[in-house]
Amino acid sequence: MEDMTRPDEMDQLFAEEEALEPRPASKDDPWKVLVVDDEEQVHAVTRLVLGDFEFQGRGLKFLNAYTAQAGASLLVENPDVAVILLDVVMESEHAGLELVHKIREEIGNRFVRIVLRTGQPGQAPEKQAFLEYDINDYRTKTELTAEKLFTAMVGALRNYEDIKRIKRLFEQVKASQLATVVAMADLAEYKDEDTGDHVLRIKRRTEAIARKLGASGPYSVAINETFLELVGTAAILHDIGKIGIPDRILQKPAKLTAEEWEVMRTHALMGEHLLRKLAAMVPGPSFMSIGANIAGGHHEKWNGTGYPRGLKGQEIPLEARIVAVADVYDALTSRRAYKEPWPPKEALEALRRDAGSHFDPLIVEAFLELVAEGNDGTIEPSAPAPPPETPERKEPAE
Ligand code: C2E
Ligand code: SIN
Ligand code: SIN
Ligand code: FE
Repeated sequence: MEDMTRPDEMDQLFAEEEALEPRPASKDDPWKVLVVDDEEQVHAVTRLVLGDFEFQGRGLKFLNAYTAQAGASLLVENPDVAVILLDVVMESEHAGLELVHKIREEIGNRFVRIVLRTGQPGQAPEKQAFLEYDINDYRTKTELTAEKLFTAMVGALRNYEDIKRIKRLFEQVKASQLATVVAMADLAEYKDEDTGDHVLRIKRRTEAIARKLGASGPYSVAINETFLELVGTAAILHDIGKIGIPDRILQKPAKLTAEEWEVMRTHALMGEHLLRKLAAMVPGPSFMSIGANIAGGHHEKWNGTGYPRGLKGQEIPLEARIVAVADVYDALTSRRAYKEPWPPKEALEALRRDAGSHFDPLIVEAFLELVAEGNDGTIEPSAPAPPPETPERKEPAE
């Protein structure tokens, strides 16, 4: 039996995920505080007043900027700044608020806590800006007393820690979900011979097609960031239902009998049901919920002649229509117990021919575009030596 853990494959999958961010909470590791203010006096008072400030055994390290623009640069160089003490009026009337917008929307830093400080109360931002830009606090400069600054700083740092903790937790959950998915896919696959890097190819092709479809055209609305984040990994679960198919059928080196074919077709619904059960334990869209749609829908055909439900066109979930193309192309160009690999050119011809009957034509078009760009969605173009003769196409028994 093959080694089911496949560490190298796991590594490759995990390497694609955002690296976890272990935060060694060292005592001599001060909180970074960025002071953005055009008045030198404000910097001096802040340093003076918070000179011996400590929170959770860690002191402060000040970064100083005298314009909003310099503040933005310092934040980009120091993404681990915990708190920004920000003036409102600097090089322009609204320089401070504009910087807040830039921090959240352009720089994309949603973690840093922002305390606005202004000379006049009339410059307070609208309530809407507070909500929209997640501004922590608002102080007038007359409140630069030791006590007020101390409480503002403790509040902001506490809040920063909470947000960081939630982010780490979220990443752990994501990583363990990914581990579960990979283990499940491996379980299904070890029964199926000759699949090799199948899992990784399906993941990458599905992602590449989805990205292409998401860039423009009628599917660009449905394909949002969550969809892109989940669909590739969910795709590796498409055949999870094969766990329930007896080896004598799965590994039969020949055409299936009508009876065997009936059994084989159950893998779609079995996979869907298993994943639906797991999806019910995870709120919101997940690898499991998208995976359920893919497992149940990847053998449906655009013209309604597929299985298990005979769904037609847009009735078939978009993620399943994408995986149908990625899966068939992979099956055709790979060796199976029952067939020899086809040369890529012939597999592409089959996709083109079946666009509009088996496959969603827009999805075949997107895949063909990727191939034309020299990217068939895999790490390296799979170049198996073409077989001496084009193998006879074996259609499953009716
Ligand atoms: P699979 O091998 O991963 O194939 C996935 C899909 O690729 C197939 O779904 C089919 O749409 C397409 N495909 C693969 N090889 C060929 C081919 O030689 N010609 C054509 N026209 N299409 C091909 P399908 O047909 O629903 O089959 C689902 C699964 O059933 C297959 O997954 C495979 O595990 C099994 N299977 C299908 N036919 C046979 C067979 O003749 N013998 C054995 N042992 N298993 C088979
Ligand atoms: C898998 O478990 O994903 C591999 C199934 C296949 O041969 O398509
Ligand atoms: C299919 O329609 O079953 C996929 C590929 C082919 O037709 O050869
Ligand atoms: Fe399948």
